[in-house]
Amino acid sequence: MEIRSLFMPLLLSVTLVACNKPPQMPQNTEQTDVSVAVAGDPAAALIEPGTDYHSFANPDEIKVTHLALDLEVDFARQILKGQASLQFVRMEEGASELVLDTRDLAIDSVTVEGKAVPYELGEKDPVLGSALTIQVPAEADVVTIDYQTSPDASGVQWLTPAQTAGKQHPFLFTQAQAIHARSFIPLQDSPQVRMTYQATIRTPQELLAVMSASNDPDTERDGEYHFNMPQPIPSYLIALAVGNLEFKSMGERTGVYAEPSVLEAAAQEFEDTEAMLMVTEKKFGHYRWDRYDLLILPPSFPFGGMENPRLSFITPTVIAGDKSLVSLIAHELAHSWSGNTVTNATWRDLWLNEGFTTYLTYRIMEMIYGEKREQMEFVLGMQSLESDIEALPEQDEVLAIDLRGRDPDEVFSDIPYEKGALFARELEQKVGREAFDRFLMQYFEHFAFQSITTDTFVQYLQDTLYKEHGDKLSWDRINQWIYEPGIPAGAPVAQSDAFARVDNARAMWLAGEIPAADIDTQDWNTHQWLYFLNNMPDELNKEQLTELDNAFSLTQVGNNEIAHSWLLMAINNWYTPAFDRLHNYLVSIGRNKLVKPLYKALSETPEGKAFAKKAFEEAKSGYHPLTVKANEDFVN
Ligand code: BES
Ligand code: ZN
Repeated sequence: MEIRSLFMPLLLSVTLVACNKPPQMPQNTEQTDVSVAVAGDPAAALIEPGTDYHSFANPDEIKVTHLALDLEVDFARQILKGQASLQFVRMEEGASELVLDTRDLAIDSVTVEGKAVPYELGEKDPVLGSALTIQVPAEADVVTIDYQTSPDASGVQWLTPAQTAGKQHPFLFTQAQAIHARSFIPLQDSPQVRMTYQATIRTPQELLAVMSASNDPDTERDGEYHFNMPQPIPSYLIALAVGNLEFKSMGERTGVYAEPSVLEAAAQEFEDTEAMLMVTEKKFGHYRWDRYDLLILPPSFPFGGMENPRLSFITPTVIAGDKSLVSLIAHELAHSWSGNTVTNATWRDLWLNEGFTTYLTYRIMEMIYGEKREQMEFVLGMQSLESDIEALPEQDEVLAIDLRGRDPDEVFSDIPYEKGALFARELEQKVGREAFDRFLMQYFEHFAFQSITTDTFVQYLQDTLYKEHGDKLSWDRINQWIYEPGIPAGAPVAQSDAFARVDNARAMWLAGEIPAADIDTQDWNTHQWLYFLNNMPDELNKEQLTELDNAFSLTQVGNNEIAHSWLLMAINNWYTPAFDRLHNYLVSIGRNKLVKPLYKALSETPEGKAFAKKAFEEAKSGYHPLTVKANEDFVN
């Protein structure tokens, strides 16, 4: 069988890629030739914008438009079993092969109107999985696949009762972004394919199923749940969770699902969600998804949050008791505009999703919590970006990144997020907030329910903002932001007065001018604590760490982000009094962003590595497959 993807040959060429600068955009509105040369090697293949190098599917020939799922959730065998019916349209007349993505699926049959049709499951690629090629009869426009998932499906985590808050019932959740939907549904797993979906999910009777679709909070708990997603969405936004879940309303259109013991705290922590929704739609256009609910997952959820439409999936590690980490909610909500309404067409274009979302997050935080808080979060974001840039190879500092031959899971950094947001902030500062807000609102409207490439965005920018404000913008500079590494000189600078006081206190303490206990930290918030710790010198001695710990009880701190910063300092300076907490932290949290830097720092010394290995072995069975994959190499 012919494998359409260019993935395999490109595995060889990836190390040659240094830069993927496109031709200069001419000053007209015609679509330009957008093939992108690979610097340094004229023979290397061009990147074709819009080609999804992470899917076997053939949407240019036959495109799936609707999915009907009927799945049974079998906790004993840790499988999903049932059928997926895919409705499709022919993009090329007479096209007769439908190519789908799968990973570790067992296919029982493929039928059209009850009659078996020929299909072939291709060889497994370690990153992409296996192509499923179906011969479709000329008159057919729906195929039905009977299948089951593997207990090791990369996009599904099965939790035992012991791994949940309530300890009584099992739990299941999916995480499809970037290319894991194919591990639980055979489909065209490419963000440029949008489909509506409906689903029937069969669960043990006492559990509730929720999906990234219409959820009825008052549905009867009878083990059979029905869902409908009437807007066309990309496959990475299909999501399912099953557990002992309850619902609490937070506002007219917002509410939270969680295990009973977490529900109240979550609803309080996130009570500003409705206000966030209202200010965002006022500025950037109406909310197109009906309800916006949150689902609080067990602590093994590998991300902070995931913007599954109508129902963002959220880590419980941000329930701090003081709303200090709720920018996560602003972020996932903002994806309802940038990401879910206007979607990246390929993973190269991820910065369109994450960069504009991060920009909107700052704006939402400013509108709800004020300028001071926004400034602090901006400074912390920039510091995190700078430290990423120090560590990244140049080709990974590019917004429109070349991901050919690579696993998108392994290329995760602040570049699409903070560099993308900084670019948006610069555009805002150049043309003025009012004009930029108008541009964004029109952008979401213009491309609503479409998946677009960087190149389409660039063309749109040229036809709109640049056309009106060409005197204030430079096209070379725009290209530099998108296609070159690093941060252009003269980019917006983050500054916070609230942090100046913290700098002062830190400097005086380091100089031995005041003891830690005399620093006036009474009114410090979480951001100030993070800034205080994150900007300590790399090396501190045992006396200094002991003094900080005695003065501020840092080893016992409840806030998971502050604890993370402190534990990282403890590892780097081998401050063992914090190591019980460290062990406990590593085995009870599975959010990769919080545990990976700790494992990494530990694995730099033999003693640290032994400690890491022990924690990892203990935690592994409770970690999500993504967290296992992201850490197992350097821990072992
Ligand atoms: N969509 C992302 C998570 C994601 C990105 C999963 C790429 C897989 C591939 C989500 O919106 C996100 O950005 N989460 C962040 C939130 C943070 C930046 C506020 C996270 O989980 O840390
Ligand atoms: Zn995001």
